[in-house]
Amino acid sequence: MLQILLLSRQHNREAFYCGEQELDDYLKKTARQHNEKGIARTFVLVDMEEPARILGFFTLAGCEVVATDLPQKYTKKYPNKAPAARLARLAVSVDHQRKGLGGIMMVEAMRRTLSVSGNIGIIGFFVDAKNQGAREYYEQYGFIPLPDNPLTLFLPLAVLAAAVEVLGK
Ligand SMILES: CC(C)(COP(=O)(O)OP(=O)(O)OC[C@H]1O[C@@H](n2cnc3c(N)ncnc32)[C@H](O)[C@@H]1OP(=O)(O)O)[C@@H](O)C(=O)NCCC(=O)NCCS
Repeated sequence: MLQILLLSRQHNREAFYCGEQELDDYLKKTARQHNEKGIARTFVLVDMEEPARILGFFTLAGCEVVATDLPQKYTKKYPNKAPAARLARLAVSVDHQRKGLGGIMMVEAMRRTLSVSGNIGIIGFFVDAKNQGAREYYEQYGFIPLPDNPLTLFLPLAVLAAAVEVLGK
């Protein structure tokens, strides 16, 4: 059975490899410290039959958005600076990619962000895509590229809520 848990000492970070060094290094060297300091939250996807083995992980954090960076439709809707949530990292182990695990974590990340939005004001969910392929991956969930920086993408709160309603079932 698959489970998503907060990263802890029980998880074998050293064995994780996703093909993107920066992501692997973050998991190995920084993620636990950030969890402890409250800078970000990293969650791991594990199979409970082998619970130490990390199949994938994602990291959530808060961020501040400059409204003029948003697509024109949203620029006037918000004050110049507004709070948001950020999918700071998302990665699946190379031997488990393209099996839907990224999708499982994405839905969980969206669900958790929606839950946060009920308690702290945020205007939506942001992500920085590493490359064009990753950008297309996020676009399929409704993320919109920013006009001047298309590798940063924005999922407005209303779209996020609708996506969780559909995908979360
Ligand atoms: C990108 C990543 C998180 C996707 O997770 P995954 O479990 O492999 O993907 P899923 O099985 O959930 O993907 C479902 C669909 O998304 C699309 N997709 C997946 N990876 C994609 C990619 N790199 N580029 C474009 N589309 C992609 C495909 O349509 C795929 O369906 P298909 O396998 O039937 O073609 C994962 O491949 C990964 O960790 N890659 C290396 C690290 C990385 O690039 N992370 C993103 C950093 S911004």
